[in-house]
Amino acid sequence: MPNILITNFCNRNCPYCFAKAQVKLGTTVSDWEMSEEEYDTVLSYLDPARDIVSILGGEPTLHSSFGKYIDKVYKMGFKIKIFTNGATKNLREIAHLKDSENLLIILNLNEPDTYNSSEWKEIETNFETFGDKIALSFNVYQPEFNWQFLKDAIIRFGLYTNIRLGVAQPIQVINNEYLREKDLKRTMTRIVDMAQDMAPFGISLGFDCGFRMCDFTDEQLGTLIQCGTVPMFKCGPNLDIGPNLDVWRCFPFSLEKGEKLTDYNSLSDLIDYFNNDWMKTKKIDNSKCNACNNYSIDSCAGGCLSRKIVE
Ligand SMILES: C[S@@+](CC[C@H](N)C(=O)[O-])C[C@H]1O[C@@H](n2cnc3c(N)ncnc32)[C@H](O)[C@@H]1O
Ligand code: SF4
Ligand code: SF4
Repeated sequence: MPNILITNFCNRNCPYCFAKAQVKLGTTVSDWEMSEEEYDTVLSYLDPARDIVSILGGEPTLHSSFGKYIDKVYKMGFKIKIFTNGATKNLREIAHLKDSENLLIILNLNEPDTYNSSEWKEIETNFETFGDKIALSFNVYQPEFNWQFLKDAIIRFGLYTNIRLGVAQPIQVINNEYLREKDLKRTMTRIVDMAQDMAPFGISLGFDCGFRMCDFTDEQLGTLIQCGTVPMFKCGPNLDIGPNLDVWRCFPFSLEKGEKLTDYNSLSDLIDYFNNDWMKTKKIDNSKCNACNNYSIDSCAGGCLSRKIVE
């Protein structure tokens, strides 16, 4: 499922942000927005019966036609996922869709003390407006992270009861804050604690890409499953489509020259390219995973590719 980057500016400045190569953090003045013509071209590669329209940025709600662009794909019958920091009133341009089964808002929530009071007010108003149409997203970039505020928000505002959990992954070339190799195992232990703490409240965790099976013990994996969390260990071409319809395998590689969407007939052709020709240009020591049974039976993709190259 490709992600459509509709604007490159963002009012936040998350220390771990892996979109830094394309996004101007801490900005609200328009620098680049995807035109409607470009948006239509991207949509022509998608099929409402098969694909979800996944919108992000930067902060997608800052696009001057945010509401119009969402209404358009809604009317076309697409399921829609919006990745947002939730700290703008613009999100409520789509408040009329709040009862739609086809909409899910994935709101990336950081520790509350990183917001000013007006940002926090917008977030709470958005929680009140959309309720369970909002699923929280949380990126772990420090081993000693807290999750109480996520639980409190879900219970208080009746939000969706699955949290998208990401391990903050490194970007190629530019620095971002990310979870270091030496801290991974103990952080996973904390994630299992988090799952156990959330489960009695009916809240489960959803793993984003880049987790590794060997960072957990068998017992921890069993505990996660008992807590309603389905651990996933994937890493594949997500396809992020941005300015000039350039396509990257995923954000950590978005400092590279992208592929032109219109040079390809389909998204599967692009995925084939990134899995084969593009992959051959990368130098990776994959000896540990090549010898691993989880790898050969496709239970684990070997962790984040960007991490493998950086570390
Ligand atoms: C780049 S953001 C853009 C959309 C929106 N501003 C937001 O924060 O959700 C898209 C997604 O990337 C995730 N993300 C950002 N930096 C990351 C990192 N270093 N590792 C893993 N996921 C990350 C965010 O949590 C969000 O779900
Ligand atoms: S993660 Fe999202 S909200 Fe945070 S700086 Fe990056 S684009 Fe902005
Ligand atoms: S495939 Fe690689 S990362 Fe995954 S469990 Fe095996 S050795 Fe670990």
